Amino acid sequence: MANKVEIGLGFRKEIADEFFHNENIRPDFVELAPENWVDMGGYWKQVLNQLADKYQITAHGLSLSVGSYEDLDIEFVKKVKLFMDEFNIQIYSEHLSFAKTQNAHLYDLLPIPFKQESIDHVADRIKQVQDIIQRQLVIENVSYYTSLEPEMSEAEFVTEIVEKAGCKLLLDVNNVYVNSFNHNYDAYGFIDKMPMESVSYIHMAGHKKVSDDLIIDTHGESIIDEVYKLFDYTTSKLSGVPVLLERDFNFDDISDLQIEMESLKKICKKNWL
Ligand SMILES: [Fe+2]
Repeated sequence: MANKVEIGLGFRKEIADEFFHNENIRPDFVELAPENWVDMGGYWKQVLNQLADKYQITAHGLSLSVGSYEDLDIEFVKKVKLFMDEFNIQIYSEHLSFAKTQNAHLYDLLPIPFKQESIDHVADRIKQVQDIIQRQLVIENVSYYTSLEPEMSEAEFVTEIVEKAGCKLLLDVNNVYVNSFNHNYDAYGFIDKMPMESVSYIHMAGHKKVSDDLIIDTHGESIIDEVYKLFDYTTSKLSGVPVLLERDFNFDDISDLQIEMESLKKICKKNWL
């Protein structure tokens, strides 16, 4: 049976024009951060309307902070729900991390300790979000540089949260690679342990190797061959989910992004069609 192959690109204001006027950039959909758009009016609201006319949009949040112990920002989640309805957005993904503590934004995405107590807490918060948005939340495995006194493996942690919350999984294949390198484990073994039936979205990106034993997840470079190989392996185990190319800066040669999207598409077609 044929499955859809859709490769998207993160929408950013710095390169907004390219999404409308550059024939060399042809994503199948675009992803944006709702935080940057929910209260937007004037010129950028018009751009958003045009964007929604031209592309299917997915929302990838930055500030939900599902791991925090403060109350969820209910008003913000309600705004996201209205935003999704207005622009026909079906996918709302967020990081499995915390970005806020004691009401201070940390401006970084920190890992949640891999503990049973965290699973119960995070699953409850995800359910709360899902009740408001009336859709399943899609949670993303994050890159992390220290793990906080783990009681279990990351794979067990992610799997249990997905099961308990009844949410979906955004599998960031580059994050798997980065973590496996930095924490010295087998990336393929990690993929094998992921609940593939719950994966509904994939992220791919480039990273920067800063020393012999450290990679930083920058989203500013091209995807390396080893991450393409891991993507090939991952996509051979599932089918028909949208794939997003993340690029946060370094837009010198924008047509390189189209080449990367074509490479991802080729692999998906091989595995899915
Ligand atoms: Fe990601």
